[in-house]
Order: sequence, then C-alpha cells, then structure tokens
Amino acid sequence: MAQRIPEQVINEIRDSLDIVDVVSDYVSLKKQGKHYSGLCPFHNEKTPSFTVSSDKQLYHCFGCGAGGNAITFVMEKDNLPFVEAVEKLAGKANIALPEQSGTAYQKEEDASPLWEAHELAARYYHHLLMNTEQGKEAYDYLLNRGVTVEQMETFRLGYAPNQPRMLKELLEKREFDIEEMVDGGLLFRRESSWDIYDRFRHRIMFPIHNAKGKVKAFGGRSLGEQEPKYLNSPETSIFLKHESLYGIHLARGPIRKKNQAVLFEGYADVIAASGAGVTNGIAALGTALSERQVQWIRRNTDQVLLCYDGDEAGQKAAWKAGALFEKEKVNVQVALLPDKVDPDDYIRKHGSEKFKKDILNSSVSITSFKMKYLRKNKNLNNEGDKLAYVETVIKEIVKLPGAVEQDIYLRQLAEEFFYHLMHLTKRKND
Ligand code: UTP
Ligand code: MN
Repeated sequence: MAQRIPEQVINEIRDSLDIVDVVSDYVSLKKQGKHYSGLCPFHNEKTPSFTVSSDKQLYHCFGCGAGGNAITFVMEKDNLPFVEAVEKLAGKANIALPEQSGTAYQKEEDASPLWEAHELAARYYHHLLMNTEQGKEAYDYLLNRGVTVEQMETFRLGYAPNQPRMLKELLEKREFDIEEMVDGGLLFRRESSWDIYDRFRHRIMFPIHNAKGKVKAFGGRSLGEQEPKYLNSPETSIFLKHESLYGIHLARGPIRKKNQAVLFEGYADVIAASGAGVTNGIAALGTALSERQVQWIRRNTDQVLLCYDGDEAGQKAAWKAGALFEKEKVNVQVALLPDKVDPDDYIRKHGSEKFKKDILNSSVSITSFKMKYLRKNKNLNNEGDKLAYVETVIKEIVKLPGAVEQDIYLRQLAEEFFYHLMHLTKRKND
C-alpha cells in the first residue's frame, strides 16, 4: 500500500500539471476573463459559481465555499487519501513515483503486457488491411461502404486474416506469455482440442481505445455471413465493457470544445459521422448504456445528443439512455431517424449535409421524444388509450425541473388534444 512520497516529487507533479486540466476531467469549464468557471461538483447548482484560477492554481466555489489546489480537489472529488490522490495525479502528469509508493492494483494494470500486445495486434491488423493482398477483400468492402482511407487511418481499422494462428505466432515470436494472451482475449482456446487459435479471423477489426488512446480491446465485424456479426474482446484485466466507449480518445477534445457529446449505437455510425465532420461522436459497445459511461460523459459535458437507430430497439434504447442522463442532470436531445435506418445508412444514402441539417440539427428535446414515442403505439381515438397516454405524459412533465419547461409541454399536450378533439367532432359531424 501507499508510502510517503518525497516532497520534491510532489512539487514536481504540482509544477507539471495545470489545475484547469485536472478539474476539466470532472467539470466542463468555460473561460471567463482570467478565470475558468463551471458548475460546482461539490454541491447542486444550476448557474456556475465554481471558479478555477490558472494563475494561482487554485479553485473556489462562491456557492458552497469549497476551495483548494489540484491535490485537494482530487482528494475531495474521488474521496481519496492524500497519497493516493498524488499517485493519481502523477499518472496524469506521467511522472514515475518511487517504487514503493504505487498502489498494487494500479501498477499491475499499467504494467500489464496486454497493452503492448494489443498495440502490436492493432498495428499488425492495420498493416494487413492497408498494404496486403490478404487484406484486399476487407479494404474493398470498407471502400464500398463509403469508409475512406483517411477514416481507416484515423480509427486504425484493420483486418484479421482468415488463418488460424497468425497473431499467435507473432505473439510467440515477441515472447509474450501465450496463456496470458488467452486470458487477454487476443487468443482463444478451443475446449474440445485444447488448441490455441487467434480469436479474430476473417474480420474487419475496430480497435477500442482508452481515453488516453491506448488500445485495450477489439470489435471484429465478420466479412461474410459468419455469426456473430460483431465479435468483441471478452472482459479482461484492462477491458471492462461498462466503462468503455468507442471513439473516446478522438472525441474527448471535440466533446469539450463543442460542449456536447453525440451518442451512437454502432462503431460504423461513429466513423461515418466523423467523416461528416461530427467529431464528438462515441458509442457504447453493443450493450445498454451504463451509469459509469454516463458519468464519464458527464465529466466532459452536460449536453448529449442521442442518435440511435430508427427502429423499435433503437428508440427503446434511447428512452433508457435518456433516463440515465436525466438522473445525472445532463441535457438530452434526441435525433430522429427513419425506421430501419441507422446513422451510417442515412449518411451514405443522403450525404453529410442532409444528415447534419435534417437529423442532428432537427433533434427534439427528450420530453418531445417521449411524447412521440408514447403516442406511437396507441390508438388515440380509443378513450382508454388516450387517458393512459395523457396520464403518462403528465407524469413525465411533472418530473421536469423548471416551471417554464413544464408549461411549454402542458400547452403542447393541450394543443395536441385540442386538435384531436376537433378531428373527432369534425368526423362526427361529417
Ligand atoms: P448493429 O447490428 O446496429 O450494427 O449493431 P451496425 O453498427 O449497423 O453495423 P453494420 O453497419 O452492419 O456493420 C450496433 C452495435 O452493436 C454491437 C456492435 O458494437 C455494433 O457496433 N454488436 C452488434 C455486437 O456487439 N455484436 C453483434 O453481433 C452485433
Ligand atoms: Mn449499420
């Protein structure tokens, strides 16, 4: 466990970090004159009273009185003792601590050979895709799907060959422990024969990076008909699905700059959208959005645009994701796609400009989305359905934080039923 850290090292860490960067990992800050300001992470507030001074390297909240330096900030925010907060900041500053002062767990994770093995595999798959005859089918497939060479480079796409042990041999040559590579998900033991094979074969490879840009896992899309369509790495000591997001290493900067994250369902959507200039896009890994993922997004922005598939499953997923974001006080907009179309299909069919104009910029508030969704499968000419609908919508409206907002939707609801009643009476009179 943690030992004393020499004062000199602590000073070195303080000097090499900017408190603005440290705080920005948790709070979305805006520059205002000499200071930065944002919503205080230590108490609930709607208008920013939390300030950070880059000159003084201090933070202060005028609302709740919290204040201190980068180290106390991390201690308070992550509920860590001093030494562990310093260790965390040392990691961020890339400063090595004297041997005994790292926590065992952190050292183990950082030192895992899996990082190097994944980097090696990513480079190998990428090389095969870009430069070899073997990778040509995959390369042509991607080009045909509208993925540009630049996008293949940016997302480091790759091709896993249709051979049983290519990666295994490479890993052996580089003297990786093969058992460890099985646990790490790159290789795979067939229970029936105990033989070890490459996990990914004849697949387009999508490396999954951590926020710092290190590869920790892969998603592999089958080229032919073989199932599953996407094969993902299993969870390992360096890869937990519920805390990973596809594309975060590229999107983090743009998310902060635009103060908005666009959330997609699929890897292909993130890539197609980036080609359309939507560089703040990320995706969960084929699983329902988790609280951890929402919290990561919340630390970087307070505005999210959900851009899920236009089918029933996509809309259901958007509803659930919306609820998680609302709980974290993140403002949610929902982009509406036509049924059976995902963002990637839409961009390919209608182009980037139309996607941005008619889909992203025409998004609706989460409440409007809910109203539309609830209405969809109801026959509002039926009295029972109509009552149930109104009741559910009112329940949603009551949950809204502001009186003005509540008023807007109540009016909308009233109008909706006014027209509805008009229609009914008109039909009766006809
Ligand atoms: P989709 O089935 O919508 O695929 O899955 P897609 O993104 O449109 O892919 P293309 O266009 O057919 O290539 C959305 C996401 O769900 C996960 C993947 O993360 C995928 O990006 N998924 C899907 C899996 O993990 N396994 C599967 O078998 C299918
Ligand atoms: Mn698709």
